[in-house]
Amino acid sequence: MSNSPFPDRARIDAHDKVCGRTTYSADLHFPGLLHAMTVPSTIAKGWLTEIDGAAALAVPGVIRVLTPADMPSPGDLTDAGRPLPMLEAAIAHLGQPIALVVAETIEAAVAGAGQVRATYREAPFTVAFDDPQIRCDDTPAPTLGNADAAFAGAAVTIEATYTTAANHHNPLELLSTTAVWNGGKVTIYEGTQASNVVKASVARSLRVAASAIDVVSRQVGGGFGQRGEVQRHTALVAHAARLVGRPVKFVMPRSQIFHNARFRPNVRHTVKLGATAEGRIVSAHYDTLQQNSRRGGYRADWYHAGPSRIYGIANYKGTSGDLRLDTPDPGQMRAPFEHPAAFAFESAVDELACRLRRDPIELRMLNDTKIDPQNGKWLTSRTLNACMTRGAARFGWSRRSPEPRSMQATDGAALGYGMAAGVYQAAMHPAIATLRVSANGATHYASAGHEMGQGLRTTIAQALLAHLPIDESRLSIVVGDTSAAPQHVTAGSWGTASSVPVAIAAAERMNAAMNEFLDGRVVPGNMHEQLARLRRPYLEVEVAMFAPGQGREHVARLRSGGTTIAGLHGTYPDFTCLSYIAHFVEVCIDRHTRQIRVPRVVSVADCGRVVSPRTARSQLHGGVVWALGAALREKSEVDARYGGWLNADLGEYFVPVNADIGEIEVELLDQPDYDANSAGVKSLGEIAMVGVAAAVTNAIFHATGVRVRHLPVRLEQMLL
Ligand code: MOS
Repeated sequence: MSNSPFPDRARIDAHDKVCGRTTYSADLHFPGLLHAMTVPSTIAKGWLTEIDGAAALAVPGVIRVLTPADMPSPGDLTDAGRPLPMLEAAIAHLGQPIALVVAETIEAAVAGAGQVRATYREAPFTVAFDDPQIRCDDTPAPTLGNADAAFAGAAVTIEATYTTAANHHNPLELLSTTAVWNGGKVTIYEGTQASNVVKASVARSLRVAASAIDVVSRQVGGGFGQRGEVQRHTALVAHAARLVGRPVKFVMPRSQIFHNARFRPNVRHTVKLGATAEGRIVSAHYDTLQQNSRRGGYRADWYHAGPSRIYGIANYKGTSGDLRLDTPDPGQMRAPFEHPAAFAFESAVDELACRLRRDPIELRMLNDTKIDPQNGKWLTSRTLNACMTRGAARFGWSRRSPEPRSMQATDGAALGYGMAAGVYQAAMHPAIATLRVSANGATHYASAGHEMGQGLRTTIAQALLAHLPIDESRLSIVVGDTSAAPQHVTAGSWGTASSVPVAIAAAERMNAAMNEFLDGRVVPGNMHEQLARLRRPYLEVEVAMFAPGQGREHVARLRSGGTTIAGLHGTYPDFTCLSYIAHFVEVCIDRHTRQIRVPRVVSVADCGRVVSPRTARSQLHGGVVWALGAALREKSEVDARYGGWLNADLGEYFVPVNADIGEIEVELLDQPDYDANSAGVKSLGEIAMVGVAAAVTNAIFHATGVRVRHLPVRLEQMLL
């Protein structure tokens, strides 16, 4: 295997995307296709006592109205095997679908949905995060050493509470599902990160064998956790298509996405740090309290994964709680736990540096570690110091005068420099790949993975083209299709580390197969030409690969559609493997308007070997932009009167626009980590945004002397 860096290459799908030729799930058309629209609940909690579809059925073009009465009965399924409900009378949150209208046209479906009459019995509900009445559950969280004693004995301590707001995903591509039955089998076209999970879940919901279902998710127009599980409507649409005997397409309006899709919950974080007079952190307490739904399983304890490892703190005490509200299930959203946790923890470290009058980089370097304090295992390629050193040089950190309010921009704006760091798990899953090189010039490759715009196909192409003399223009890479290869959820930033080593192994196996076929004959040309000259239609290989600590049983689990991740939280049997990042942010606070601007960000990351420099840099840019949104713009507001989300559209949910974004310089160390896997690849997608928000508020503190402990930062907090 070659150890050299990969060349820069344009996205293999760039031309199609720019020309509008890329086809997303909802772009597909099928003969006889019907359109569906959901009817959202108008109450926040209670029971649907009556539902009347007669007026909807009278709308020309409407052919069926599905209500809870049309759902398959749960039968003898146990609670554990019970599928996600499709339509049910019990209402758990505002906007929960209560009916599905199927019609000849989208217009008729929408008009019909507006005519469905529902009667409810309302129940009291709670949606506000600060309601003192609500139920709180505790989940065990990591505890190491004796944090209380170490805190009591610390020379310097700080304690602060931070809050991070609920945020919603707003990718360009709306959620959609199209179901097409053929005989007893159904194909579901849906932009998902989890085609295998969708397959298994729909099978359970519809009481059919998984072998009767294929899920096709060739392109996802943005997926960072919103599409990491099955959607509630997926099986419903497939059920509707089965009942009416025609293909059915459902595209969820954006306002309903706010009420039905997974979101980042409100979180309250309290951090206490104790340090020696020199700045060695000897104790950390970190208490998290997150918003959850009444029965939601979103993990409350995962906020601790980063803070408990990043600085090798031997005495750590974490707690994690859920506030149970009548809002929808929260769920993954880019760096789901790591971004909010890093905002709190990296702010606290900055507060400690200020208290100690130490440079925040020096303080972090003083707390460097080679060992994962959680389990005593060694940290492979621990490069945080290198990221900070490189970032500081590139940013010009040495120009910073340490005192708050001591720097000014040329226009008189208060100028601040801030920095923060981040870690993220380097995880993997097994993969099975098939590779066929044909005499006619085509190469066909299929494996697990989902293309969510992050550039997975380009990354796989990089791996194949580095090792195979083939025609790039006729290379087709199929991912996200359960009929082409066993699929696995693509999330947790394990995409590249899971898809590239197997691609390289497949290329090497292909080279070996070619050599065996040539058997010493010297034939000119690339592989296609060699095969053509020797009249061999194609060569095909299949390769299976698994992660450190995994074995054949994990490959078998993948084949049967299961989820099987190695390196969760970076933990492997013999080591801990993390990616690292350091962010440097410049802010300007206008003298008169107090508007906050971020003219410049420098981010330096270590994701191991960089397989696709173009898309890797793009991931970093995107992560920084997303974090600037979280830091300065995005907040999903609840409506305490009626439940649900108040600003459920892009007019009132503010995301950053081009004018909000200044210069973003990104750099990757590009040092392979061969302990992680044979390609030396770690993780990148999520770490890109870990720590940015704290770097912003640390810079705001430096500019103004105001410590903002709440996200998003609002202009009024800058009024002194
Ligand atoms: Mo990512 S939030 O695990 O899709």
